[in-house]
Amino acid sequence: MPPSSGTPSGQPPSGTPGTPPVHAEGHWARYNAGQGDREPRETLRRALDLAGRETGRTAVDLGCGAGRETRALLDGGWRVHAYDSEPTMLSATDRTHPALTAHLLGFEQITELPPADLVYAGYALPYQSRASFDRLWTLIRAALRPGGLVAVDLFGVHDAWAGTPGMTFLTAAEATALATGLTVEHWHEEDEVGPAFGGPKHWHVFELIARV
Ligand SMILES: C[S@@+](CC[C@H](N)C(=O)[O-])C[C@H]1O[C@@H](n2cnc3c(N)ncnc32)[C@H](O)[C@@H]1O
Repeated sequence: MPPSSGTPSGQPPSGTPGTPPVHAEGHWARYNAGQGDREPRETLRRALDLAGRETGRTAVDLGCGAGRETRALLDGGWRVHAYDSEPTMLSATDRTHPALTAHLLGFEQITELPPADLVYAGYALPYQSRASFDRLWTLIRAALRPGGLVAVDLFGVHDAWAGTPGMTFLTAAEATALATGLTVEHWHEEDEVGPAFGGPKHWHVFELIARV
């Protein structure tokens, strides 16, 4: 699977397929440096198609990393609030863009999100405890304006990394329950071996796009 269309196979070579190297020193800086000029991820492209072309709306990019998707949002005329705990965040983006507000914050530190027409989180929300995940999901739901979209990648319990302390892995029922009261616009479950930088691993990923 190409890095642009699914699993984040641009992972650095540290770690093994069965162990996410997220706690290794400099892990996310190396990851972000490897993102380069790839195409925006599929989940974001779907969300942008669903959102239409009106400009000047507000998007939130949670765990923005190098900012490839942030850049696509800016190019599409969105005002973007990008969040990440990694100091090298937004290295693939014009950090001085007037429509960009960067927030160097861990998910655990976010106390509110701006009112938003789109909340996007690509391969990022699983990298926090379940308690933090649930708290942030409440903030995401509260931030969405009427007609707004939430577009996220979530990890499932069959993933090779399931059980890693400090991460969140959901059953399909738990993932679908997140969209209770919303209109599900897109749902895809991947439950198979696929590429990762540390070698092939079993990915269990839910793509969820839902509208208020
Ligand atoms: C797999 S990368 C995805 C980056 C980008 N969204 C993409 O699709 O390429 C995960 C990102 O989440 C960030 N991250 C991980 N844990 C985090 C946390 N607890 N709070 C905030 N950001 C976090 C990392 O710094 C990293 O940039």
